[in-house]
Amino acid sequence: MRVIICEDYNEMSVRAAKLVACQIAIKPNCVLGLATGSTPIGLYENLIEMERVGEIDFSGVTTFNLDEYYPISPENEQSYRYFMNKRLFSKVNIDIERTHVPNGMTDDPEAECERYEKMIDEAGGIDLQILGIGQNGHIGFNEPDKELAPYTHITDLTPETIFANSRYFESEAEMPKQALTMGVESIFKARKIIILASEGRKAEAVKSMLSDKITPKCPASFLRLHPDVTLICDKQAARLL
Ligand code: PGA
Repeated sequence: MRVIICEDYNEMSVRAAKLVACQIAIKPNCVLGLATGSTPIGLYENLIEMERVGEIDFSGVTTFNLDEYYPISPENEQSYRYFMNKRLFSKVNIDIERTHVPNGMTDDPEAECERYEKMIDEAGGIDLQILGIGQNGHIGFNEPDKELAPYTHITDLTPETIFANSRYFESEAEMPKQALTMGVESIFKARKIIILASEGRKAEAVKSMLSDKITPKCPASFLRLHPDVTLICDKQAARLL
């Protein structure tokens, strides 16, 4: 895994945006895997600005997001579909029909997961996947466990994740306790991966990912086995390395 340690969140976001821009320049009809959460917001802001000044063009790009809460409506401001529309898709020249987020309203989650995985394969697979890392070492909603599911699946969220993300909901009771998420193999099928980490609260997870055992107790640790992963983090997140 390549490791790039940046001064701060801003530099991390700019470095990541430059790599995404390179991917789009090399392959204008590329498939991007996207992530939500607080970490990639700066990356998306940089991409919006780069498109505004004519440095990149999203018109040929297809996207697949990692995950979505279940159940949740796309109109719910905490849904990942809402987040992506607000933070990126409505602000760049992307064809919204080519943007994909698992359907948090489906009444058949297993069928939806199967459909989602198939759509990724039919699009030719993901060229570049953006990831965040959870404080508990999760990637997507692949939570620490005794074993990890390979493909897109429905999963229960751990108490740590419910606690970490309930700050965005009016109360913990309002937060969905399940999610639809790409699996570890869905993520591994991406040809390139960028994982972002910022703030001291991620330092333990970053250290476990890079230097402890490769174990499903830290799903991100499996990224050490992928041939093309770049960690871009700020000094705070790297402080235990
Ligand atoms: P965050 O979430 O960017 O909001 O810290 C990252 C994650 O849980 O994967």
